[in-house]
Amino acid sequence: MISEIFNIKNRIEHQIIISKITKILNDLKVKNKDTVIIIVSELATNILKYANKGKIKFEINKDIVTIIAIDNGPGIKDIDLALKEGFTSGKSLGLGLPSVKRLSHKMDIETSSKGTKIIVKLKLEK
Ligand SMILES: Nc1ncnc2c1ncn2[C@@H]1O[C@H](COP(=O)(O)OP(=O)(O)OP(=O)(O)O)[C@@H](O)[C@H]1O
Ligand SMILES: [Mg+2]
Repeated sequence: MISEIFNIKNRIEHQIIISKITKILNDLKVKNKDTVIIIVSELATNILKYANKGKIKFEINKDIVTIIAIDNGPGIKDIDLALKEGFTSGKSLGLGLPSVKRLSHKMDIETSSKGTKIIVKLKLEK
């Protein structure tokens, strides 16, 4: 069982979480490493863009990885819309969350005006 919590409040901490998770996945010889990294990177980027700061909890238990992104930002106004390809409230492509959903085996979003919690589960291939 691996369990780590990362604070995300700037681009440097974004880089740190990516390099630490890359090392963990390399050590475990995970074949779908890139998928896990894309998911973490996208959730961390959204925290920085829309909530300024937050945390990512990264857990591996047997062959299941759980990624939990938590922030105290403004919340996602409309989850269905946020999951549509091409929707962005910023000036971006609006592909992040739809990709996370497609690449993961399970994604749950809890959001309110007090913040957002996104829980993603994925099976590791070895
Ligand atoms: N943590 C968050 N807090 C508040 N709103 C969020 C959060 N994450 C996503 N959103 C909202 O959901 C929308 C869709 O997110 P998504 O990641 O798909 O697109 P994007 O970040 O705008 O663009 P891209 O990821 O393609 O650069 C965002 O534009 C934003 O309005
Ligand atoms: Mg995004």
